[in-house]
Amino acid sequence: MTAAEPDWLDLRRPVDDAARQESLQLLDDAVARLRDGTEPGTKSLLTIDIGAGTGNSSQWFDAVLRARLSDWEINWVLLDSDETSLDLAAAALPHARTVCAPIAALPALSTELLSASEFQGSKLLLTCSALLDVLTETDLTAVVRTLTDHDGLGLFLLSLVGGWTLEPAHPHDAAIDAAFTAHQHRDGRLGHHAPEHLMSLARRNGLTAVEGPSPWRLEAPADRTFLSRFLSERLDAAVDEDPALAEAAQAWWTQKQSQLDSGLRVRVDHRDVLIDAAESAGEQETPANPQPTRSGPQ
Ligand SMILES: C[S@@+](CC[C@H](N)C(=O)[O-])C[C@H]1O[C@@H](n2cnc3c(N)ncnc32)[C@H](O)[C@@H]1O
Repeated sequence: MTAAEPDWLDLRRPVDDAARQESLQLLDDAVARLRDGTEPGTKSLLTIDIGAGTGNSSQWFDAVLRARLSDWEINWVLLDSDETSLDLAAAALPHARTVCAPIAALPALSTELLSASEFQGSKLLLTCSALLDVLTETDLTAVVRTLTDHDGLGLFLLSLVGGWTLEPAHPHDAAIDAAFTAHQHRDGRLGHHAPEHLMSLARRNGLTAVEGPSPWRLEAPADRTFLSRFLSERLDAAVDEDPALAEAAQAWWTQKQSQLDSGLRVRVDHRDVLIDAAESAGEQETPANPQPTRSGPQ
């Protein structure tokens, strides 16, 4: 697992916030499920932001949830395997608890937290943003198991689903995208298949899963700084995956640099997923504690 650079997370924050405006519909669905689907009298939420990084997505979730659940007590746990990021997150959200652990630790951690007297009777909400595509089959199994064990809700935002649209187009756009997409699958990561994979794993365990889009819509020169970093890092990953692309990449990058001044539109697709373990989808095919299945693309 590689931690994200804090300056990159800060650069993407306004872009992610803009994309998450489209996530609000799914978030409102989650809030309605919290209000309608919990025991009468439950007004306490234990929210675990997984892959919290430096806390930028946690701050967004905290603000939108408090605006909608002003009569609820909302407690935060920020989970990440990178201690340095969590130090920054702790300063950004002083009311939150931080836990340095891998996603695989989530089932045991959530059981321990929910049996502590301060969180007993709380509803569990898992959140994440910009995370799913770097996870493995084992990680997603831990997520579904956690939701199943505690009748929890999960709101997983801004997962890359592959593909991009650039205007003006370049003949190498598709080859660079294909190499980047392959790179996303390194070391057993589910890459752009992760949201689909999570939904099908949840449904196979009888949980309800719904989805929605949350694309980045970028435009140069206005988004020049962000686009320059985003495109150059994506290109580096593509060439890393397929070194034969090096020459084509150079020509592509020369054109993109001039378009960052003259005009460029980029759309990058993401998918949001909402999982509700309290509402049975009636499709259960496997036991409630899912076992790892095949890894890799479906
Ligand atoms: C792209 S960053 C997103 C951070 C934050 N959610 C945001 O939107 O700003 C992904 C984060 O997930 C963490 N991460 C990735 N895989 C993980 C795993 N298996 N267990 C725990 N943390 C993980 C990384 O350390 C990184 O901080």
